[in-house]
Amino acid sequence: MTVLVTGAAGFIGYHVSAALLARGERVIGVDDLNPYYDVALKQARLDRLTGEAGFAFDRLDIAERGALASACGDGGVDRVVHLAAQAGVRYSLEDPFAYERTNVLGQLEVLELCRHLPRCTHLVYASSSSVYGGNTKLPFAEADPVDTPVSLYGATKKSGELMAYAYSRLYGLAMTGLRFFTVYGPWGRPDMAAYIFTKAILAGAPIQLFNRGDMKRDFTYVDDIVAGVLATLDHPPAPAGGAAPYRLYNIGNNRPEPLLRFIEVLEAAIGKKAEVELAPMQPGDVKETFADISAIQRDLGFQPSTPIDEGLPRFVAWFRDYHGV
Ligand SMILES: NC(=O)c1ccc[n+]([C@@H]2O[C@H](COP(=O)([O-])OP(=O)(O)OC[C@H]3O[C@@H](n4cnc5c(N)ncnc54)[C@H](O)[C@@H]3O)[C@@H](O)[C@H]2O)c1
Repeated sequence: MTVLVTGAAGFIGYHVSAALLARGERVIGVDDLNPYYDVALKQARLDRLTGEAGFAFDRLDIAERGALASACGDGGVDRVVHLAAQAGVRYSLEDPFAYERTNVLGQLEVLELCRHLPRCTHLVYASSSSVYGGNTKLPFAEADPVDTPVSLYGATKKSGELMAYAYSRLYGLAMTGLRFFTVYGPWGRPDMAAYIFTKAILAGAPIQLFNRGDMKRDFTYVDDIVAGVLATLDHPPAPAGGAAPYRLYNIGNNRPEPLLRFIEVLEAAIGKKAEVELAPMQPGDVKETFADISAIQRDLGFQPSTPIDEGLPRFVAWFRDYHGV
């Protein structure tokens, strides 16, 4: 089978592409390699994929009209995993238009592509726990109202879900949206906690704990996410009773960790104490995330198996190796 993976040079896109190639699929990867964070890291991920049989890559902006259709050539794409996004909560306060372009216009381009691809039988696309905004009912469940985002990032991800549902209903396209919860692991993003804290601790620089450290996150190891994405991709939803062939799942670790414990585990993995500065809550941030994963467990047998005690040491080992520290 041939799978189009958008955001293939990104953190999750790299891991998903590698896993698809490892099981013998052909992958067409696309990414614009934009400089939101270190392009050398995106290129290094891509270099590892480029050496693999069955991998082809096109550098393009998914929001550019018709660019994706050109990359798909004769239309021989069987399934699509759409992970390209302007990610990151805080940066959406600085450059809101980048979020609108990739996460809304780009999402529409992906939907239009799938509508016209003759062989495509399933689109799996990334949403985010950020759609839950400031919800206080825990754990977050798919049926909860998500009409009060606290960041533009969350608002664009919710917009993406709405457009996807409309396309599924209008054109009978099989689609699954996945709301990822704080993903970490080797080759992770430099704008996220594991990377920022590891870099600072190794350098002896202070780390800032927002909301004075009073936060919890449902940190999810990237291998668990990849297992969930592949299980989802392999099981397109069927239309039932005239309903749209559409599903939406949380995909998290189902185990929120206090930020202070996250730092303790990181300190143990690095072998050095962090220098902590307590800071106020940041605009756009939320105090706690916790995924109810009963739907994806029930339907697809998804079971995350990596606690931070195992995942963070693996991240630190990668970080030291990649940066030579
Ligand atoms: N990592 C997480 O914790 C997390 C949590 C919730 C949701 N998500 C979602 O998962 C997906 C993957 O996230 P990630 O952590 O791998 O982020 P990432 O930034 O590492 O990967 C996204 C990739 O998309 C590419 N991209 C961005 N705009 C593009 C455009 N217009 N055209 C082509 N390529 C473009 C980027 O260059 C990048 O390589 C995103 O949709 C993100 O919103 C991630």
